[in-house]
Amino acid sequence: LPGPWTVPAGVIVDHPRFPYRGAMLDVARRFFPLAEVLRFIDHLTRYKINHLHLHLTDDQGWRIAIASWPRLAEVGGATAVGDRPGGYYTPTEYRTIVEYAVARHITVVPEIDMPGHTNAALTAYGQLAPDGVAPPPYTGTDVGFSALAVDRELTCRFVEDVLGAVAALTPGPYLHIGGDEAFTLTPEEYARFMDRAQDIVAATGKTVVGWHQLAAARPVPGRVLQYWGTTGAEETVAAAVRQGAKVILSPGNRTYLDMKYAADTRLGKDWAGLIEIDRAYGWDPGDYLVGVPPEAVLGVEAPLWTETVTSLADAEYLTFPRLAAIAELGWSPVSAYGWTGFRDRLVAEGARWEAAGITFHRSPGIPWVGEPPRVGSPLG
Ligand code: ACM
Repeated sequence: LPGPWTVPAGVIVDHPRFPYRGAMLDVARRFFPLAEVLRFIDHLTRYKINHLHLHLTDDQGWRIAIASWPRLAEVGGATAVGDRPGGYYTPTEYRTIVEYAVARHITVVPEIDMPGHTNAALTAYGQLAPDGVAPPPYTGTDVGFSALAVDRELTCRFVEDVLGAVAALTPGPYLHIGGDEAFTLTPEEYARFMDRAQDIVAATGKTVVGWHQLAAARPVPGRVLQYWGTTGAEETVAAAVRQGAKVILSPGNRTYLDMKYAADTRLGKDWAGLIEIDRAYGWDPGDYLVGVPPEAVLGVEAPLWTETVTSLADAEYLTFPRLAAIAELGWSPVSAYGWTGFRDRLVAEGARWEAAGITFHRSPGIPWVGEPPRVGSPLG
């Protein structure tokens, strides 16, 4: 057609509220082969999630090969929860994950959990155990029973070697050292060990991240605490923030993707409560934790623990729709939060999940497209 043409103009202002918007995949309790991790990364890109936290080690499995400590992967990587297959990532496979993520604007945050949650490492190297004896492999789902020999020089070398190797493979700025549920240690043993671990991370040039129990260790510049409690008040975290710490919010009763949606959900746990989609959405990360102002909030993360997960479809079912809620809370200004608008956006996302073959939970009360009509309804 001959011109001139008139084109409507507009200005779009769109930027994230928080710099860190994450999801965590527990590859220790259930090993996710490389292709499944890449598919999970694809899912994250849909919602501008820009950090993938990989929980690489736990009591049931060690998932990254470390050349100087080969038995970690060979022995510690052989198991998972129950009779699920074990597995581990070679350095090349881990690099493949990291590079695939980088190409999609996602930073991988590797976690080596210590000093607790270490039974798999201890099965590989009994010299790291408090009594010097390798325990049997553990494939159950209890927590809090294992710990490294925290005051041994060999343990310090182990931490240096492992964190050094993981840092060298990781382009992102963060190293996560866990620090949760070290129930067999005294507070003094725990703080002494985590003080050293923080220094070891600093020596790699990375920024230390830990579960919020890390607040008990000495303040170091720039450290990041990941809050996973459920009360909204944690004085140790507020005190750490006053000394410069930043916080990632993963409250268990809002963001934990392994919690059941309802009492009869086939998968998941319920220790932090049931989390339907409205509960995942209905909170403000900038006004959640007493003494932690929005400026101290680095962002939000939805962790997927996998004790009850046996397939990628299971992982997807627990992730969607809830990840969309956490992503929106992390990206949008508070003025744009709103249930009815979010619900309408979810309906559109549901159609996309359906088309992409992504398993998701059809939360009740959402008018999902393609939902089988109920008997007796006008469409029935
Ligand atoms: C945790 O859920 N133990 C961090």
